[in-house]
Amino acid sequence: PPANPTPPPRPLPLSLRRQRQMCISDTQLAQPTTTLDAGPRGAPVAETVALRDAVLAATEAVWSDRLALQLAQRRDQARATGVDCAVEQCVALTFDDGPGPDTERLLQVLAEKHVSATFFLVGSNVEKRPDVVRDTAAAGHLLANHTWDHPRLTTLDDDAVRDELARTQAAIESAAGVTPTLLRPPYGDVDDRVRSVALRSGLQVVLWNLDTLDWKTRDAAEPRRRAAVGARAGSAVPNHDSPASPVDAVPGIVDDLRAQGYRLVTVDLLAP
Ligand code: NI
Repeated sequence: PPANPTPPPRPLPLSLRRQRQMCISDTQLAQPTTTLDAGPRGAPVAETVALRDAVLAATEAVWSDRLALQLAQRRDQARATGVDCAVEQCVALTFDDGPGPDTERLLQVLAEKHVSATFFLVGSNVEKRPDVVRDTAAAGHLLANHTWDHPRLTTLDDDAVRDELARTQAAIESAAGVTPTLLRPPYGDVDDRVRSVALRSGLQVVLWNLDTLDWKTRDAAEPRRRAAVGARAGSAVPNHDSPASPVDAVPGIVDDLRAQGYRLVTVDLLAP
């Protein structure tokens, strides 16, 4: 009897075939005359790329408008309670890299001084201390995104950047039930591409304009001196929420800034 003939290969499921058709290789991109199999007559790669870029730009514009609107609403709410950084001298105390072992103590210090601050959180730390993050939000501080594991974002491709941001958003949402709208890129390492990916992830980039260099010293006096000398209206005064940084410096910094007439606010309330 004849051996069973090998069955013909089964066709790929439709979704997989679509995926293969949509996938544009670098070689194809380098040859603008290549035609993509994306319809009865196909579409030239250049046209497809232009269409993709137009969609990305539109998405970015939508997010940019949405975030600007949210910020404006936050400032309106603050104005209703008597805080207006367009007319007052405001500075923002910000804490990066937490939550850490000292965060609860920091929250106590801030509560004693009646200060609302901004916490740029590292997602992998949020996962380790979700309770602390919940307490931070409950105390009225602003939670913001500082990536999942603190990489230099400009060295990562778009997908990896998106992943850094999205995982952190998810961790903060699950710990505290709030969705951050601000991102501080580690080391201030940012370019237009990263800004664009961030916007499309619902995050606006915030840097800083005064460094207390608190992570360089365990001496509480030095960051205090730098904050007092360097502050000007609209400053975001960064500190690190990590064991290397003295929580003990914070009360002195708060007192000095207030003595100079500054109002301490969360970073989203600083005048744009
Ligand atoms: Ni950092």
